[in-house]
Amino acid sequence: IPVDPFDLVIFGATGDLARRKILPGLFRRFCAGQIPPDARIVGAARSEIDTAAFHQLVREAIDEFGGKTPCGDAGLEGFLARLAYVPIDAKGTSGWSELCSLLRPDMVRAFYFSVGPSLFGAIAERLHSNGLATDDSRIVVEKPFGHDLATAKALNATLAQHFREDQIYRIDHYLGKETVQNLMAVRFGNMLFEPLWNAQYIDHVQITVAETVGVGGRGAYYDTSGAMRDMVQNHLMQLLCLIAMEPPAKFDPDAVRDEKLKVIRALDPVDFHHIVRGQYGPTDSQPGYREHVENPRSTTESFVALKCHISNWRWANTPFYLRTGKRLKARSSEIAVVFKDTPHSIFGEEAGRHRNVLSILLQPNEGITLQVTIKEPGPGGMRLVDVPLDMTFAEALGPDGEDVPDAYERLIMDVIRGNQTLFMRGDEVEAAWAWTDPIIAGWERRGEVPEPYDSGSTGPEEALMLMHRDGRKWREIRV
Ligand code: BG6
Repeated sequence: IPVDPFDLVIFGATGDLARRKILPGLFRRFCAGQIPPDARIVGAARSEIDTAAFHQLVREAIDEFGGKTPCGDAGLEGFLARLAYVPIDAKGTSGWSELCSLLRPDMVRAFYFSVGPSLFGAIAERLHSNGLATDDSRIVVEKPFGHDLATAKALNATLAQHFREDQIYRIDHYLGKETVQNLMAVRFGNMLFEPLWNAQYIDHVQITVAETVGVGGRGAYYDTSGAMRDMVQNHLMQLLCLIAMEPPAKFDPDAVRDEKLKVIRALDPVDFHHIVRGQYGPTDSQPGYREHVENPRSTTESFVALKCHISNWRWANTPFYLRTGKRLKARSSEIAVVFKDTPHSIFGEEAGRHRNVLSILLQPNEGITLQVTIKEPGPGGMRLVDVPLDMTFAEALGPDGEDVPDAYERLIMDVIRGNQTLFMRGDEVEAAWAWTDPIIAGWERRGEVPEPYDSGSTGPEEALMLMHRDGRKWREIRV
């Protein structure tokens, strides 16, 4: 279904995120027929290039990052016809009147801040002073949304000078992933799970976001951030919220975000014995983290594993184990909800004890399976085995899940539709920092150095111990 006609301005349109995600994503939505003929997309950045050169940059970006695009060369030219470019000085005056002349009245208007947070204030102020910030215009901002609670509050305050909260779309692209939304459908669209979704029936939850990539060319940013700020404070926290939240009264932005906020606020401070930090070392053929970030003494973590608790009726004493890291064995992200043992085995211990596990795979393949216990087929008596009940939906949508839209595509369309459900509210972001800050401050106070781990492994040995000590174990990071 096409969205309403819109004017979308992308600040930072020649940058990495725009080339990798935003522009190819918009093209795919165009190919899917979702972008109406009179939509206009304006790239705005510092580079003094003209629209033809911008079109060339977009062609190359789509070629490199567009994936399988179903509408070919003719489609690409049709898409480019909607794209203009304005060189702009975000902190100065040049380019702003040209931008004004390109935007039309009575159109949905969105401004994507695909720039560093140090420019957010300047751009917001100039949108306002140039009369571009109409009453229903929207702004989209990217992470990192702050470096800690104080900077996040300052950013929220800066944006609030010119925009209402319902105009601010803070992106966490994990919320745009197909399976993450399916998680809400599975929880709240079925009678089956919700009655069991609590401390009485669930033994623990584990969330793994494992990456094979290192910090690549982002060393300068990453070394001031680390896995805790880069992944846990936002992406893993959002996944935790969706698993743990109470059912919202309706699927609307504030109802959902109110419930997520309650989860974050109910998180206990983390005992420092329950956190493991790691940093990947070099291999024979690959440099290690410190070489990547060109900081031989760096104590920034590229891996975190931790155990946390949510202090409320639903989750009292149920541990949530989170882990994420770079240069691990495989790219594999999974949320596993591990149910308790049956209270009594009528088949005797020799039949084996088995557990139900609801596994929500985010990537590389998206899907949901429920591990259930059945009788091992054949005449061998009553022996039990686990089989997965497969709720994988990607196949239903086409080979390789090719029709599943990328997270960015979906989120940008939600901005145009004016739907904030999958975006973080200011108070949520602040609450997440309020939980993360003491953890990081503790590391700094104790002068902690991360445990080294081998590239291609599952992280430091200590991370395995975190669960072993509790008589549990991590799910395999599947290749
Ligand atoms: C980003 C982080 O937000 O998410 C990166 O800054 C990380 O460090 C990336 O690699 C992971 O995203 P995805 O969608 O590839 O899992």
